[in-house]
Amino acid sequence: MSKLIISGGIPLHGELRASGAKNAVLPILAATLLADGIVTIRNVPHLQDVTTTMELLGRMGVALVIDERMNIEVDPRTIQTFQAPYELVRTMRASILVLGPLLARFGQAEVSLPGGCAIGSRPVNLHIKGLEAMGADIKVENGYIRARADRLKGARIVLDMVTVTGTENLLMAATLARGVTIIENAAREPEVVDLAECLIAMGAQISGAGTDTLVIDGVERLDSATYQVLPDRIETGTYLLAGAITGGRVKVKDTRPDTLEAVLVKLEEAGAWVNTGPNWIEVDMAGRRPKAVRIRTAPYPAFPTDMQAQFVALNAVAEGTGMITETVFENRFMHVQELQRMGAQITLEGNTAISIGVSQLTGAPIMATDFAGLGQLGAGGASGQGRHGGGSDLPH
Ligand code: UD1
Repeated sequence: MSKLIISGGIPLHGELRASGAKNAVLPILAATLLADGIVTIRNVPHLQDVTTTMELLGRMGVALVIDERMNIEVDPRTIQTFQAPYELVRTMRASILVLGPLLARFGQAEVSLPGGCAIGSRPVNLHIKGLEAMGADIKVENGYIRARADRLKGARIVLDMVTVTGTENLLMAATLARGVTIIENAAREPEVVDLAECLIAMGAQISGAGTDTLVIDGVERLDSATYQVLPDRIETGTYLLAGAITGGRVKVKDTRPDTLEAVLVKLEEAGAWVNTGPNWIEVDMAGRRPKAVRIRTAPYPAFPTDMQAQFVALNAVAEGTGMITETVFENRFMHVQELQRMGAQITLEGNTAISIGVSQLTGAPIMATDFAGLGQLGAGGASGQGRHGGGSDLPH
């Protein structure tokens, strides 16, 4: 899908269910490479990045079966090559997640460097440094990370900054290393916990998931498992915001309210009535206009960068002056210019977007710049006569 045409001005009301989390299923698909048997993954979302990951594994010789309910069975035992080529990595940075598992299980990996990205430089130096601490021999040449190791060994790794996929790569590698690995300043995101739980189901010895210190006691082999991916908190939050922005009421089912606490607090500050049950969240802004909020993004459990653009869109139509500071990525405000084209009053000061809410945005052709910069989508456009418009910067 390269173009969405939206006729605006309609408050959104309705109920839907959250898909499985993209940022959990991608590392879990990579983790299947560690197993000495078939891994079945349930609740897989229907997304381009999932297709790309399946293509990546398939090209290595891994056998994959997908059924009509999006359950995927992965048998890594037929693997023949250990390479993630540039043409796939450039379309999906998360391909870097095969580096740790390939190295730990097969002693070798050749993964293209991801390169630049629309939202910042996004290096992978901490992935490489951590694997080197575990005894890997790594060379970066011809645009590729070439890694070798006889058997990785346990190490104490202190991450310079909190990195989600960096933590995941090292966690996966450590499961088959000889001895104990301790990862300090680890990411605490629910998707890291989900990956850890999947690895534990495969036989890994991990403690501390969800805290900033992960302790992994390496085992000789990992085995078959069946695992259900957790619901997508960013998809959930995005739907709830769509309800709040348009002055509507939206209920998301099959989700996990405990993974969205920072987001729900901000929705309440914006004036929404928020109700939650064990596996659902309802946001009611019916007939009202949101109030502008102040937000600072940071690693979990603080406010997620992947919900930043949606709140910039909310502030654009809210009552009052809003302020949103991005601290995770250096250039993640591409959506601001697009919202300005729809009539939003937003100024950027360094890494802070300051907005004075307008009561109405107007339809305009706009671009989903996060993705256009990666070549995943062409220059998308949307047009329509909107009372309230939505943002264009999708989670990534
Ligand atoms: C993951 C998520 C993405 C989310 C982001 C932050 C996946 C597939 N993607 O991306 O949706 O926006 O977490 O929550 O899970 N950094 C370094 N060196 C490194 C690694 C990272 O300097 O080796 C920096 C990055 O440039 C960035 C910060 O650390 O400024 C956080 O990035 P990171 O957590 O690694 O993001 P991703 O794992 O790529």
